[in-house]
Amino acid sequence: MTEKLKILFVCLGNICRSPAAEGVMRRFVEKSGLDDRIEIDSAGTYGGHRGELPDPRMRNAAAHRGLTLTHLSRKIREEDFEEFDRIVVMDDMNYENVHRLAPSREAAGRIFRMAEFCRHHPDYTYVPDPYYEGHEGFELVLDMLEDGCEGLLEALKNEGRI
Ligand code: 4NP
Repeated sequence: MTEKLKILFVCLGNICRSPAAEGVMRRFVEKSGLDDRIEIDSAGTYGGHRGELPDPRMRNAAAHRGLTLTHLSRKIREEDFEEFDRIVVMDDMNYENVHRLAPSREAAGRIFRMAEFCRHHPDYTYVPDPYYEGHEGFELVLDMLEDGCEGLLEALKNEGRI
């Protein structure tokens, strides 16, 4: 049996976008019967919310889509590059911060932007930070994550990686 593919989703606080991405992706993976092939985690570039559950606004919005988010916030660390095959960030600031942590050029090549995998949000190159937004901001994030995670899974299948 080949080793599991490990995916890490990253945003700033690890309490809104990336834990939601983790929940959305996990559901797609389970639906596709790939839970024994893929492992998923999330982290933030800022450690100020360490140990916290996702923001109640995100938990609420996700619950309306049948998703329960239970991840506890943690900060990304350099060792994550040893463990994860794909690191999927939400915006350009995340990209720069994660890129700065990458121990090698090869490791940096494993960083991707979530919006690259979205097929129904052509106007976005990043997943917007919903923290200072209203309800619509959280809905947009979840719409983009459902779109992007489906695209990501498709891309991994096309690459023959899973
Ligand atoms: P996230 O959202 O990066 O999607 O988890 C944020 C969470 C916290 C803060 C900013 C964005 N903050 O400034 O504390």
